[in-house]
Amino acid sequence: MLESKQPVGASNHPVEIELTPGKTYSWCQCGKSKSQPFCDSKSHYGTGSNPKEFTVSIRRKVWLCMCKQTMIPPYCDGSHNKLLKSTRLDLGLEISR
Ligand code: FES
Repeated sequence: MLESKQPVGASNHPVEIELTPGKTYSWCQCGKSKSQPFCDSKSHYGTGSNPKEFTVSIRRKVWLCMCKQTMIPPYCDGSHNKLLKSTRLDLGLEISR
């Protein structure tokens, strides 16, 4: 049986990582990797999802998405904030403004 193509969130917060120029990274899109935020080359099997390969041209720290809902993969776009807000609403918790 095939699993859902919907990614699962690995965390509700992005992770800050310093990336090396010229190195090819494989960001996990399915959310099931045991090596988050990167693909572990096996956990995506059957999900219909594949890792997103990317490189950077300069050494720098970046925030990589862990909720797997970003619109600019592999980088965080703040989508985890919407997830946290909806989770709090689902639980009936107040949201401070
Ligand atoms: S384990 Fe998630 S994309 Fe490979």
